[in-house]
Amino acid sequence: MRKRAFSGIQPTGNLHIGNYLGAIRQWVERQAEFDNIFCVVDLHAITVPQDPAELHEATRQVAALYVACGIDPRQSVVCVQSHISAHAELAWILNCVAPMGWLGRMTQFKEKSAKQRETVSAGLFVYPALMAADILLYHTDVVPVGEDQRQHVELTRDLAIRFNQLFGEVFTVPEALIRETGARIMSLAEPTKKMSKSEPAGSIALLDPPDTIRRKIARAKTDPLTTIEFDESRPGIYNLLTIYELLSGQDRPTIEARFQGKGYAEFKRELADLVVEALRPMQERYAEIRRDPASIEAVLRDSADRIRPTAERTLSEVKVRMGLG
Ligand code: TYM
Repeated sequence: MRKRAFSGIQPTGNLHIGNYLGAIRQWVERQAEFDNIFCVVDLHAITVPQDPAELHEATRQVAALYVACGIDPRQSVVCVQSHISAHAELAWILNCVAPMGWLGRMTQFKEKSAKQRETVSAGLFVYPALMAADILLYHTDVVPVGEDQRQHVELTRDLAIRFNQLFGEVFTVPEALIRETGARIMSLAEPTKKMSKSEPAGSIALLDPPDTIRRKIARAKTDPLTTIEFDESRPGIYNLLTIYELLSGQDRPTIEARFQGKGYAEFKRELADLVVEALRPMQERYAEIRRDPASIEAVLRDSADRIRPTAERTLSEVKVRMGLG
C-alpha cells in the first residue's frame, strides 16, 4: 500500500515560483511514490475578502496549473475543497477540540492579523483547524509543503493526537514533507521576506511572460559585494543562486565556479534565461488546458466523487465517537 499524500494551495493571487519550488515540484517528483490528493483550497481563500467571480476563476486556474506543472489527474486526485462538504463539517468539530491558545500561537495568523486586529475574520483564526480537517479526513501520511506551513502541520499532528486520546484512535498522525532546498524562496524585492502571492513585485508568477520575468530578475535586490557565492548572510544573492541551483540541477561548487569573476548582471541574465526556459513548457501546457474548460470541470467533479466516500467515512466515525447524531 502506498502512503497517502495530501496538499493544497489557496486560489488567491497568482501562483509563483515559490509555490512551485517549495510545493508543486515535489508533488510531481514523488507522484508515483504516493497515493495523492492535491486540493484547491477555496474555503481557505475566503478567510479574507474575495471577489466571487475572481475566486471562481482562480480556482480553475490553480487546478489547471497543477496539471500543467505535471500532475496527472489519472494518477492523482485534483479536487476543490468546497466540493466535499465533509471538510467544513470536520473543521467545525476540530474547532471545538482545538484550544484557543494553540491557534493563537500560529505565526501566520499573528502576521496576517497584526494590521487589522478587530476586523480580521474569525475564519482566519480557525484556518489551521480547516487545514487539519483537509489532512485528517483522508488518513494522510505525508503533507508535502513549503517551510511556512510546517507549524500548521505540527498543529494538525497535535490535534490528531488530542482527538485520538479523547475519543479513541480515528486519525492517522501525518508528517510534513519539506525539502531541504527551496522550502522558503524569498521575495526578489525584499529578500528577507518570503516570496508571497500578495506581493507580485517580489515574486515571479508561473504565468509571467518572459519580458516580465527578465525585468523582475534584473531588478532583484542584491548587495554591494560582487562575488557570486552561496552565502546565507547575503539573502538576495543567496536566494537567486538557490533558484538557479533548483532549476539547473547543478551543484553549488559547479555554479560558483561558473560565475567566478563574473558580474551580477551576467548572472542575472543567465538566471532569467533559465527561469524563462523552465516555465515555457508549463505555460504552453496551461494555455492548452484552458482552451478546454469542460475537461478541467470534469476532472474536478470526478475527483470529488472519487474521494468523497473516504471523507464521509472518516467523518461518520468521528461523529459516532463523539456521540453526535
Ligand atoms: P499557500 O496557498 O500559501 O501556499 C501553497 C504552497 O506553497 C508553499 N509556499 C512556498 N514555498 C517556498 N517558498 C515560498 N515563498 C512559498 N510560499 C508558499 C506553501 O508552503 C504551500 O505548500 N494553508 C496552506 C494551504 C492548505 C494546505 C492544506 C496545505 C490548506 N489545506 C492541507 C497542505 C495540506 C496555504 O495557505 O498554502
